[in-house]
Amino acid sequence: MDLGRWPGEKPLVSRPEQGGLPSVPRLNVGEAGAIDGVAPLDRESLSGVVTVFREAFPGNLLGTFGRAFLTEIFASYVDLPDGVAFVFRQDHAVVGFILGSIDSAQHRNQLLRQRWAHLSLYVLRAVATAPRLLGPLARYLRCYPWPMLGPAGRQRALTGPAPLPPASLVLLAVAPSYRRRGIAADLTQAFFTALRRRGVDQVKLVVAAANAPALAFYRTHDWETAGRYLSPDGEEVYRLLHWIGLE
Ligand SMILES: CC(C)(COP(=O)(O)OP(=O)(O)OC[C@H]1O[C@@H](n2cnc3c(N)ncnc32)[C@H](O)[C@@H]1OP(=O)(O)O)[C@@H](O)C(=O)NCCC(=O)NCCS
Repeated sequence: MDLGRWPGEKPLVSRPEQGGLPSVPRLNVGEAGAIDGVAPLDRESLSGVVTVFREAFPGNLLGTFGRAFLTEIFASYVDLPDGVAFVFRQDHAVVGFILGSIDSAQHRNQLLRQRWAHLSLYVLRAVATAPRLLGPLARYLRCYPWPMLGPAGRQRALTGPAPLPPASLVLLAVAPSYRRRGIAADLTQAFFTALRRRGVDQVKLVVAAANAPALAFYRTHDWETAGRYLSPDGEEVYRLLHWIGLE
């Protein structure tokens, strides 16, 4: 099915504010001329991002709605003006990515407003094929930070909430066989540089308390805990904050 483009969207290579490749670390031009290392997310890389997402988050509910559903969501970080996103390529393949935005609530609202029909269609199709998804879907929708419920949604605060900045790191993932090589560190540096250029000095994220590798990574990189929450299905999550400082 042709999903069309976002309103006003041009065939995209990269946004100028995410350019500036010289400041991005570990950029190597391989023998075949392929550029390995960090680069802004573009439409050509979306399929690779979907593949890494599915490897990095096996069993994640969003993954069960299919590749086209994930592609729509991830494309919003290329297409919407507040998106900030990078991939890490190795030998032509995407092996890691980072997605975020300078205003996550606005991003979510725009995504829903513009793409709700497509997204709902994918979800309904998945549920029709596998009705067992209905329970997890209902729980997910209860946890979803709907605009009218404020930044914490229906999550119950265990500690916090601290005041939260609008910018968010939404997803960071590295393919399992490429971990512990500094790829996530390179991606976050590029992400912070891009945010700083756009006048952002603080960024937030949400991570499951059970996600030990991610917590170890964020602690190593000076993220501070801003609150602990319980989602409606009982999962404990942390909100973390990081000061990136302005140039
Ligand atoms: C979390 C994640 C992105 C880290 O990616 P990575 O490329 O392996 O991270 P880096 O190599 O840049 O790690 C830098 C440092 O973080 C810490 N770290 C990263 N993974 C760790 C782990 N599994 N255990 C302990 N420390 C870890 C270490 O201090 C590491 O430095 P070291 O390797 O010199 O000890 C990766 O494990 C991943 O994709 N996990 C699944 C997806 C996910 O949970 N994402 C985060 C939630 S959105």
